[in-house]
Amino acid sequence: MSGVEIFEVGPRDGLQNESRPIPTAEKIALVDLLSQAGFRRIEVTSFVPPKWVPQMADAAEVMAGIARRPGIRYAALTPNLKGYRAAKAAGAGEVAIFAAASEGFSRANLNATIAESLARFAAVAQAAQADVIPLRGYVSVVTDCPFEGRVPPASVARVAAALRDMGCYEISLGDTLGQGRPETIDAMLAAVLDELPPGRLAGHYHDTAGRALQNIDASLDRGLRVFDAAVGGLGGCPYAPGAAGNVATERVAAHLAARGHDTGLDMAVIERAAAMARAMRRGA
Ligand code: HMG
Ligand code: MG
Repeated sequence: MSGVEIFEVGPRDGLQNESRPIPTAEKIALVDLLSQAGFRRIEVTSFVPPKWVPQMADAAEVMAGIARRPGIRYAALTPNLKGYRAAKAAGAGEVAIFAAASEGFSRANLNATIAESLARFAAVAQAAQADVIPLRGYVSVVTDCPFEGRVPPASVARVAAALRDMGCYEISLGDTLGQGRPETIDAMLAAVLDELPPGRLAGHYHDTAGRALQNIDASLDRGLRVFDAAVGGLGGCPYAPGAAGNVATERVAAHLAARGHDTGLDMAVIERAAAMARAMRRGA
């Protein structure tokens, strides 16, 4: 069996979309359970203005409350220097900057053009480098944009290269809408792979249209070996109300195992975490 890593993003990408205010203790309990599952990296929260994402307003409390296990990097999203400083103070083991491949999505998600957002991120990148905090990068809307339709692969490659040049050790490619298809993912990867080797890329596929596993297969064929997923399929898309969220960690792990890839995860713990996540979603 060859190894493939799942980067757990449920506590951040999954929970950020839940409209019910989830108690901080529940978020901490989910991260603590996930810490027993064998992940090397868990995205815990994001340090963004509460008026933008109310669910993440308790980012510092969550980071302070989790029981950190050696060998796991606890990550946080940081949109600007203010967020970066708060994440560092909270002891984030890794931070992530997140750009978009289309101007429309950049404006909606970051209140900035792509160029303006990259200038902001450069400041975060310099600070992270000075502090020796690993920096990850995301590119959103890598195939389809809710405002501009099909996104040219060259636009994704350009933004991915800019994040690489800032020092991101890995770039996660986000099919934010979950509308990608194996063919469009493959075409996008072909362009990005002109800039970065597959070992520095991750696939971040939302499952809105139920094609995330096929898109993971297309990415495996291109040599990618890291995939982001959210336990219990937490999350959704603000532009597709009621749609499915991030691809579920338990489904990705089972799918990878069937294809002969070992994730090293304890499936019994994952199932318990998935049940906990589903209960959080229902407010049970
Ligand atoms: P802005 O409103 O233009 O920011 O937002 P601003 O600099 O004008 O500041 C406005 C107010 O926010 C000020 O406070 C700042 O101090 C405060 P006021 O003076 O009004 O009292 N502020 C902050 N407070 C707390 N933490 C901060 C912070 N920064 C400013 N970090 C900004 C610009 C980039 C901050 C905003 O647009 C933003 O945070 N956007 C991120 C939204 C978000 O979190 N989206 C979801 C995550 S990305 C995602 O899910 C995609 C991904 O999963 C991959 C994929 O699927 O594609 C990663
Ligand atoms: Mg996402």
